[in-house]
Amino acid sequence: MSEQPVLGQQDGINIFGNFIGGAWGGASSGKLGENRNPAQPDEVIGLFPASDASDVEAAVTAAAAAFPGWADTSAIARANILYKASEILASRIPEIGRDLAREEGKTLKEAIGETTRAVAILRYFAGDLQQPAGETYSSVSPTTLLFTLREPLGVCAIITPWNFPIAIPAWKAIPAIAYGNTVVMKPATYTPLSTVHLTQALAEAGLPAGVLNLVMGSGGAVGDPLVADERVVAVSFTGSDEVGNALKDVASKRGAKVQLELGGKNPAIVLADADLDHAVTQVLNGAMMSSGQKCTATSRAIVDRRVATELSERLAAKIGALTVGDPLDDTTQIGPLISEDAASRVADEISQAKGTGVALATGGGRPDRPGHFVTPTLFTGVESASRLGQVELFGPVLGVIAVDSVEEAIEVANAVKFGLSASLFTRDVGRALEFIRRIQAGIVHINSETAGAEPHVPFGGYKGSSSYSREQGKAAREFYTQLKTVYFDPPPTQA
Ligand code: UN1
Repeated sequence: MSEQPVLGQQDGINIFGNFIGGAWGGASSGKLGENRNPAQPDEVIGLFPASDASDVEAAVTAAAAAFPGWADTSAIARANILYKASEILASRIPEIGRDLAREEGKTLKEAIGETTRAVAILRYFAGDLQQPAGETYSSVSPTTLLFTLREPLGVCAIITPWNFPIAIPAWKAIPAIAYGNTVVMKPATYTPLSTVHLTQALAEAGLPAGVLNLVMGSGGAVGDPLVADERVVAVSFTGSDEVGNALKDVASKRGAKVQLELGGKNPAIVLADADLDHAVTQVLNGAMMSSGQKCTATSRAIVDRRVATELSERLAAKIGALTVGDPLDDTTQIGPLISEDAASRVADEISQAKGTGVALATGGGRPDRPGHFVTPTLFTGVESASRLGQVELFGPVLGVIAVDSVEEAIEVANAVKFGLSASLFTRDVGRALEFIRRIQAGIVHINSETAGAEPHVPFGGYKGSSSYSREQGKAAREFYTQLKTVYFDPPPTQA
């Protein structure tokens, strides 16, 4: 057991611990897993616990024991800890950003942006604890004081993805803690180091033992027993549909609150009157940043046929000119995919698409270098019903679908199982309003890219992209609290 996340070294490589009950320590089995740099797969960034059900048991026990004390800690005292953690994290942005880029593969600039977002999330929830925490109501009786209180739920399980390895753990765990819950968090096996940094900042800020517990390991060995534990009353998950829906079945069967954030197949509609320079830049950023590995990434450009050729040519020129390389190199614009499996799966989808009559405008393969890279790729002449039009690829691949009217554009945009984010590029206010009404998406952008999420507003999707609850901002408070309604009457006066 240690106060520091690094427990020791093996062949010069740091060994990191789980964080359970306020101390860093190895998995009870002693097993370790490697975390490798996706741009330089020979580089092992660290060794992390390969935990199992017994570590989950210890973490849930610690979280359950810490809950009554933490729930009774004043909201202002909790806010002070979060605020202090935000300052610690802010002072380490360059170092954390570098580690994040090394383990995830997004560019250093994006990694620093993401770490800065985690700081903003801490600040937002620290501030929100000074906002009204319930409501007062009128009663049928003139002397009854009628009001609501928002109270915490208990032990929350949080399972996070690799693509935003510090922002998503922050936007799930920070509100959970802020409103008085305790947490057991399982980070993605590809990106445990970023969550170590977040957890360490909270520990140094004085978060009491057991309030946040971090258990690393695979979904099967850690996630499954965590979600199945009777003491866990709420589960928040971001990741694949398959895993999300399976854990929802387990957790909701016993009445736990469940929040799922799943995939996207996000459209950017470009109308003929749009500013094409702006549309090209925004569509490119939405599709290609983080190598397209965002659930909010643009994967379909649905374009008015009158400007489809011009837009496609301009997009192809810019996409073809993107610099693919090491995320830590200043000139790099596109880093690797997370793993060899991911890169070969996306490359396979690209090869299959090539045989279907679509036109390859740029990219279309893997660059000749080590690492899990895929060349940024644009297809034109894509049919809405094809795999390129329907399947979330989670890679740097964009398809252009040409349409004849705004009505057809919206119909095509809606003709997928997902509904996370959608953009429209136009100068026409009437069409923008029509799009806002008709689009089936939880996040709508007019004249900006589909990706991005400010920390104080609700985040989540329609249809297969989310469960009905939302994350972030006031929506997070709704998820992580329950309401108590109080009828407060004076005692009858003595005769
Ligand atoms: C963003 O677009 O900046 O997993 C955030 C994801 C989303 C977060 C996207 N839950 O990609």
